[in-house]
Amino acid sequence: MWGGRFAESPDAIMEEINVSIDVDRHLYAQDITASKAHAAMLAAQGIITANDAKNIGKGLDTILSEIGAGKFTFKRALEDIHMNVESRLSELIGPAAGRLHTARSRNDQVATDFRLYVRDVLDQTDAALASFQQALAERALEHADTVMPGFTHLQTAQPVTFGHHLMAYVEMAARDRGRFQDARKRLNESPLGAAALAGTSFPIDRHATAQKLGFDRPMANSLDAVSDRDFVLETLSAASICAVHLSRFAEEIVIWTSPLVGLVRLSDKFTTGSSIMPQKRNPDAAELVRAKTGRVIGALNGLLIVMKGLPLAYQKDMQEDKQGAMEGFAALSLAIRAMTGMVRDIVPEQDKMRAAAGEGYATATDLADWLVRTLKMPFRDAHHVTGRIVGLAAKAGVALHELPLAEMQAVEKRITKEALAVLSVDSSVKSRTSYGGTAPKNVSAQAKAWLKRLEKERKAG
Ligand code: ARG
Repeated sequence: MWGGRFAESPDAIMEEINVSIDVDRHLYAQDITASKAHAAMLAAQGIITANDAKNIGKGLDTILSEIGAGKFTFKRALEDIHMNVESRLSELIGPAAGRLHTARSRNDQVATDFRLYVRDVLDQTDAALASFQQALAERALEHADTVMPGFTHLQTAQPVTFGHHLMAYVEMAARDRGRFQDARKRLNESPLGAAALAGTSFPIDRHATAQKLGFDRPMANSLDAVSDRDFVLETLSAASICAVHLSRFAEEIVIWTSPLVGLVRLSDKFTTGSSIMPQKRNPDAAELVRAKTGRVIGALNGLLIVMKGLPLAYQKDMQEDKQGAMEGFAALSLAIRAMTGMVRDIVPEQDKMRAAAGEGYATATDLADWLVRTLKMPFRDAHHVTGRIVGLAAKAGVALHELPLAEMQAVEKRITKEALAVLSVDSSVKSRTSYGGTAPKNVSAQAKAWLKRLEKERKAG
């Protein structure tokens, strides 16, 4: 493609370090779409003839179906997807193919292709997260009043409901989606026509190609257009946060399925056995979701390091933007789908959850609150009184509600048997009616509101 100035062909090692076709072949559809838009614009502006544009368009369509059908031979010597497509185009339509590259460069071409690619990733991720939310909200509605222990410091803290716990991840996924949607807005400007770095002397219409490719507008500065990869970084940042959310849920599943804990059971579909220990049911999918997070964050780190300190405009370093990002996006996509599958058929062990919810003096706060509400004690004093009562129960080796009333009254004589009622796990969760609290009626209202919202989104398409 640049043979004019060269007498020797590249060293084999030069070719090996330079080649990007193994990675950027995944941009073929975007590359062809962008080229078609460019060719049509060149013709509309009278820069090439309508006939050449027609042949270029037809040739590109042929290449698209050849690649789609696996009938295209990618050549490493042609370095990247852009030159592979252009070279095939010239085989198909002859010299007119050489007019396609008028008023553009691979620099604006690759920036355009990758923006289109990442935009697709953003849309697919948003849809996958919506399905994840749907699965979570459905299960939350089903388990709005299934009590389980809530933890802080992984110590039993206060009873919550399983539905409430699931809905927490619906909210996280909502913010993740918001971050992806924001990234999409900033990404959605067209670099095409920035050419190598300085723009072009041809009377191109960048607004037309931007519009054709579904961009909101052309990028305003040609140097910026070819040299920034912040859209990849921003998407990977959002992806990293999302993966961190998933990894926390995955870790909870690993903990909950441990025979030592046994709060949930995973279906056979999302469990593996051991080749040596017949009793084992391993939560491999959850463990791998936890691990895939490393790939996503790794991709973000890798590209931040590639981009750091690069002067304007295009530098070949930037060719390294794709592989890690594509792998990171694929890892996230798989992680979201695996979590969605696990959520759909996870089975809470309700008896175990209920028993565990009442262990560890989880309703101690409810007793303290009763003392505040009924005896008008300052909360700090109530905390102290309750602490002494918990101490007595622990010494006697009984649960709070099993401690004889007389023993409680020895600590605070105004305690009545009405206080015992608040010590049950059910009354504890039922009482948490503050906005966002774990009361079953709150949880089912939230789950229903989300299911409605998700359905509305689906209908709006
Ligand atoms: N394969 C290159 C990349 O992915 C395309 C742009 C190459 N531009 C250049 N001037 N060598 O970045």
